[in-house]
Amino acid sequence: MKISTRAQRIEPFYVMEVAKAAQALAREVADTREPMVFLNIGEPDFTAPPLVQEAAQRAIQSGATQYTPSLGLEPLRERISGWYAQRFGVDVPARRIVVTAGASAALQLACLALIDAGDEILMPDPSYPCNRHFVSAAEGKAVLIPTTAAERFQLSADKVRAAWNAQTRGVLLASPSNPTGTSIAPDELRRIHAVVQERGGVTIVDEIYLGLGYDDAFAQTALAIDENIISINSFSKYFNMTGWRLGWMVVPDALVPVVERLAQNLFICASTVSQHAALACFEQGSIAEYERRRAEFKARRDYFIPQLQALGLDVPVQPDGAFYAWADCTHAAHKLGVQGSWDFAYELMRRAHIAITPGRDFGMADTQRFVRFSTASSMAQLQEAVARLRALLG
Ligand SMILES: Cc1ncc(COP(=O)(O)O)c(C=O)c1O
Repeated sequence: MKISTRAQRIEPFYVMEVAKAAQALAREVADTREPMVFLNIGEPDFTAPPLVQEAAQRAIQSGATQYTPSLGLEPLRERISGWYAQRFGVDVPARRIVVTAGASAALQLACLALIDAGDEILMPDPSYPCNRHFVSAAEGKAVLIPTTAAERFQLSADKVRAAWNAQTRGVLLASPSNPTGTSIAPDELRRIHAVVQERGGVTIVDEIYLGLGYDDAFAQTALAIDENIISINSFSKYFNMTGWRLGWMVVPDALVPVVERLAQNLFICASTVSQHAALACFEQGSIAEYERRRAEFKARRDYFIPQLQALGLDVPVQPDGAFYAWADCTHAAHKLGVQGSWDFAYELMRRAHIAITPGRDFGMADTQRFVRFSTASSMAQLQEAVARLRALLG
């Protein structure tokens, strides 16, 4: 069978290979004193809170399961708009909000709406691998720009200006970022957007981890800067609904009918049950629970990162959001007699039964030095991991 060149261009998601190996080993060591600790997974260990589960059950029982409008249930778009007003003090009218099947569908819609064959999109290296593949699936080319710890592993206006050429169509950032958990400073984003606008390009900001921001200096939506910025968001992370496949995007007015046309044809609509359930995310009781969980994620970060540092796994920039730690494993790998983050991750899996993610998926620049630890697991699991790391590296 002849496979399209488009499909062949999509690289494997190495995270999944590591996860597969970890699952296989987990079965072998399940009954030992050291069952597998999974710190490779980028999804909250919490599930949707009770009000959300009840709303889903009500939707199913009352038969509210037909297609919704392609842009999403009107009351849900209103509630998301209300969330921007309450949480960020930003006026985002519901008419510019498009409900999607996760941030993943929103990113695909944005790429299909804006990218022509051969267009180039600038992105930081390291960054979430699927984002460059969405660009590639739309026949565009993701151009990864190496970043430094001093830049919080984000793009800078100077680098965007220097990299811009006749094919460049725009930038795609994630703030806070996966794998680093670091956000772009709002002033830098403002400068980047000015460079992009002067050149007639588009700024897309993946804000899927925005709700899990721990520092007011960074936890601001890009939509406060300009309504021409396209913001991608999701119910997966802050709202703990990964498998419900629900997200949204905010687009300028002119793009709404374009995205609507694409969404009608490609997806019809996002899951109806999930949309009804998500209405309950914005109830006071749910928000209180989400805020409690956000504090728990912060407590995990505050516990885990100093422990990594003490063990020589340097985290050069303190994450200000999300649930990741991007750690330099050079010294730790040396201690274990291996080189590079890929071998280090496998050695850690083999010797301490701890699954983490090697840097390789996230880019090319310095990723053989870095590994990603996810702190989306319970405090007890993090403490167990620290004890094993200490035994191995301390
Ligand atoms: C930066 C980033 N963007 C998008 C996604 C996709 O999220 P969703 O579950 O909403 O499709 C992820 C998932 O991990 C992510 O880390």
